[in-house]
Amino acid sequence: MSWLVTGGAGYIGAHVVRAMAAGGERVVVYDDLSTGSAERVPAAVPLVVGSVLDGSLLERTIRDHAVTGVVHIAAKKQVGESVERPLHYYRENVTGLQTLLEAMTVGGVDSLVFSSSAAVYGMLDVDLVTEDSPCVPMSPYGETKLVGEWLIKAAVRAHGLRAASLRYFNVAGAAAPELADTGVFNLVPMVFERLEASGAPRIFGDDYATPDGTCVRDYIHVQDIASAHVAAALRLRDAPEGTSLTLNIGRGEGSSVREMVDRILKVTGNEHLTPEVADRRPGDPARVVAAADRIHEELGWTARHGLDDMIESAWQGWRHRHPEA
Ligand SMILES: NC(=O)c1ccc[n+]([C@@H]2O[C@H](COP(=O)([O-])OP(=O)(O)OC[C@H]3O[C@@H](n4cnc5c(N)ncnc54)[C@H](O)[C@@H]3O)[C@@H](O)[C@H]2O)c1
Repeated sequence: MSWLVTGGAGYIGAHVVRAMAAGGERVVVYDDLSTGSAERVPAAVPLVVGSVLDGSLLERTIRDHAVTGVVHIAAKKQVGESVERPLHYYRENVTGLQTLLEAMTVGGVDSLVFSSSAAVYGMLDVDLVTEDSPCVPMSPYGETKLVGEWLIKAAVRAHGLRAASLRYFNVAGAAAPELADTGVFNLVPMVFERLEASGAPRIFGDDYATPDGTCVRDYIHVQDIASAHVAAALRLRDAPEGTSLTLNIGRGEGSSVREMVDRILKVTGNEHLTPEVADRRPGDPARVVAAADRIHEELGWTARHGLDDMIESAWQGWRHRHPEA
């Protein structure tokens, strides 16, 4: 098959592109470079610079590259920004997906892997979040991902698409320093940023109903995210028309913020620092950990990388961009 990977010049997309190409798939990247960079795209992979809001360029790209499947990773992903700019997020993430689905219909492309997020679930009081847990997103960002899943399901029913929506939990790590995440929106880079400023890392709230009082999350290495996309793409290739999968991508293991911060201090040689405890941030659920059974049953996929691997590789990436750190 020949796969169009939207957002392939971004953090997760660059890992997915490499994993798919290594698996022998033909890949073309489609990215507007708004947060991605052309250097992340391997030289052997064609890059088309354009927005998923540009239907005619999408149609032309699908035709010119004989595209038979799409991995739709491109999106805006900052929760806080989505609260301030909801219309922008709906346009980029929902209208962008709708435009892409229209171009796929015109081009006769019937396989789609979609980047969804654990943000669709919101604040749940459960030990493990299953794909059947209620979805009550707490931000416009999470809403756009849930609406995206609905849109895809409607297209599956109406047009016989084959689709997989992959709900990523907390992504960290990198396959190589130059592929690391450049944003500072997640715990790991936020701690690195504090260390670089010679400050102690901050923990937001230690009075949650969890074993050590700090929030618990499910961290997953970006290379595991990438291998899950390869497994999903292979599964769709052989699936009957109308196949629709919704799958968590997590390790099914919770790690507390305090545990993560302690590990980061150890890996970076900063064990002498004591984390500061600050007030809770509004909207942080106490515990969000994936039930990871369904993806194993459906795709035979399991995560392979552990926490130290995520932290060490993310730290190499940080030092690559901040040599003074
Ligand atoms: N990073 C995470 O922790 C995480 C967690 C859950 C879900 N996700 C989802 O994974 C996907 C990738 O996230 P990421 O961390 O790699 O972010 P990123 O910002 O590094 O990558 C997004 C890519 O999409 C491109 N893009 C954005 N808008 C576009 C548009 N309109 N047209 C074409 N290209 C466009 C950007 O230039 C960039 O290359 C997103 O859909 C995000 O919502 C990420």
